[in-house]
Amino acid sequence: MSETVNWDRLLELREYFLGNARGEGDYWLVDGTLDSYDATFAQRIGWKWDFVMAEVLRARWTLPEGVAVCDWGCGTGIAGRSFLTALAGATGENLPVRDFYLHDRSMAAMQYSRSRLEKDGPDLTVHIGTPPQKAFFLISHVATELSPDQFQSLIQLLETRAEGFIWVEPGAYGPSRALLQVHRHFLGQLFPWAPCPGIFACPMQAADRWDDWCHQFAQPPVEVFQDPFWAAFAEIMGVDLRSLPVSFLCMDRRKPALNDPSLCRFLGRPHRLKYQMEVTACHQGAIKDIVIPKRSFPDQYKAFKKGHFSNMMLLEESGGILQSCKELPDSPF
Ligand SMILES: C[S@@+](CC[C@H](N)C(=O)[O-])C[C@H]1O[C@@H](n2cnc3c(N)ncnc32)[C@H](O)[C@@H]1O
Repeated sequence: MSETVNWDRLLELREYFLGNARGEGDYWLVDGTLDSYDATFAQRIGWKWDFVMAEVLRARWTLPEGVAVCDWGCGTGIAGRSFLTALAGATGENLPVRDFYLHDRSMAAMQYSRSRLEKDGPDLTVHIGTPPQKAFFLISHVATELSPDQFQSLIQLLETRAEGFIWVEPGAYGPSRALLQVHRHFLGQLFPWAPCPGIFACPMQAADRWDDWCHQFAQPPVEVFQDPFWAAFAEIMGVDLRSLPVSFLCMDRRKPALNDPSLCRFLGRPHRLKYQMEVTACHQGAIKDIVIPKRSFPDQYKAFKKGHFSNMMLLEESGGILQSCKELPDSPF
């Protein structure tokens, strides 16, 4: 695979992504860029989508039968492919998608995505452009590239056309806070399904949380750590393969399937102290720092220490101290 990757071009792309190039032209036109991106950055984004889809499905989200899906700002189409793979895993032969739309400002990107979907994807009709009818939208890693006007146009498009959306961004401050604005904008029109554990206003917008951001950590497949290709990627790009912070938001016109008031979502990484773990959780419309004492909760302490915990659980606390913490009943995972 490494022979097909143009590392110099990827370094240029990375500079572009890290820069402040909002609203500029088509960077996919340089030969080999789409293939090189798809073999590298897009794979990492796909691992984030795998994580996000597991979380969305854990929240019992389903795609309404026959609703069209649109990957907006598709690039090489990794969001759409990952979404369809996860959905096929959950629904088997009854994949509820018939029409799939690919949208990007770049014609080269849309054509590439279409050829990949038609070659490797399930049996569906692939269209270029935005859907004329209501659809479910997938949006991935575009927020930092949109000018304020373009961002507003996307919001308007979602307002008029979206049955719902899953929007995935890097787990960094700026993109995550942009998703918070999206949440705030749509609350009242659409219901938050994930990562939000309730239909409250986002507590991250409280004045004392201005420097905080809602993010989670996806896991790359374990094989990656033994793979010389990914070792080369990490070295050349200066990327830590272990770290895959992600921010996401799934909203839908339907009410969330889970509505237990003790639902909570853990955020960021737990902090380990000698006799306790400290976790941050979104719970009942507030961000809470919760202590898990080792003595009273040895199993939970151990699970959090090893990172073996579900991001969403049923939790009770009192005065910031854990009282109980349970997996969701009948969890499909
Ligand atoms: C970083 S890439 C992400 C591609 C893909 N969604 C992914 O997650 O791998 C951003 C994509 O957004 C597209 N894009 C940027 N500005 C856009 C706009 N105003 N309208 C539509 N697409 C845009 C770019 O052409 C590019 O394909």
